[in-house]
Amino acid sequence: MTAPARTLLIGSQGQLGSDLRRVWDGELVSFAHGQLDICDRDQTHAVIANAAPQLVINTAAYHRVDDCEENGDRAFQVNALGAKNVADAAREAGAAVIFISTDYVFSGDKGSPYTETDIPMPLSVYGASKLAGEHLVRQSNPRHYIVRSSGLFGLAGASGKGGNFVETMLRKAKAGEPLRVVDDQVSTPTLTYDLAGKLQELAATGRYGLYHVTNSGQTSWCQFAAKIFELAGLQPRLTPITSDELAAPAARPAYSVMENRALTDAGLSQPRPWEEALADYLREKGHLVR
Ligand SMILES: NC(=O)c1ccc[n+]([C@@H]2O[C@H](COP(=O)([O-])OP(=O)(O)OC[C@H]3O[C@@H](n4cnc5c(N)ncnc54)[C@H](OP(=O)(O)O)[C@@H]3O)[C@@H](O)[C@H]2O)c1
Repeated sequence: MTAPARTLLIGSQGQLGSDLRRVWDGELVSFAHGQLDICDRDQTHAVIANAAPQLVINTAAYHRVDDCEENGDRAFQVNALGAKNVADAAREAGAAVIFISTDYVFSGDKGSPYTETDIPMPLSVYGASKLAGEHLVRQSNPRHYIVRSSGLFGLAGASGKGGNFVETMLRKAKAGEPLRVVDDQVSTPTLTYDLAGKLQELAATGRYGLYHVTNSGQTSWCQFAAKIFELAGLQPRLTPITSDELAAPAARPAYSVMENRALTDAGLSQPRPWEEALADYLREKGHLVR
């Protein structure tokens, strides 16, 4: 099986979209939000039919997790119905589809890494809307890759979130702000460059289905912050807090580490540890001191 000759990328200016444009080997036709809104069914069908791709990658999302609690309509419009528009249009054009989902489809109660066969139970509107997107994509287009990842950070920063966790931590530390960061939510930070590379490998397999794709290892947000500061040579006042103390509007899983079991089953290698990916990111950004 070889990589698709012509691929259409949606959400091209985002964090993952930007790294897909960097790594993708093969013809890539890119659409930014201003050029294609996946909530517009007719536009989505027209654009995909016109481009005649073999593969469509949908990175678009409404993923301000706390805001989704208040704006459930918008969350489901983009993350579920928009995902269906893309999957339908891809099917009609004879193309496969990649949909990016999240560890927030899980409740976090399992206590050990989630595999692709574990039953999702989202705690938030965002997680529910992405899970609905998974179901609609699966039902719409048999040639789908549904890829769950977590804690994305990449050079472009998440456009939908106004940056990423690493940059937020660095900015606050350099401004001398005291930092209170949750220490009871454990997941796996994942570099979008690494995820993009794995998506390319996956697309060449033709083995459709559900995949977990994260960097290796696990950490809490507070320990992640501590590692960022260690590598960047900063020593801000960092206070671990609990999710209850933070009292964010959306509930998040306490433990949403995912095992990339289906990747192994497909004969693909595991992504490197998140610490290595972070060091590379900081080096490219000019933040690394050691
Ligand atoms: N960030 C994370 O920690 C994380 C974790 C797990 C999974 N994910 C999933 O990974 C994917 C990529 O995330 P990311 O961090 O790369 O996000 P991102 O930087 O916000 O990129 C998403 C892109 O989609 C665009 N977009 C939003 N609504 C759209 C619409 N209706 N039609 C077309 N384009 C639209 C955004 O444009 P505008 O910014 O101009 O609206 C943005 O360029 C998402 O599906 C997300 O749910 C993210």
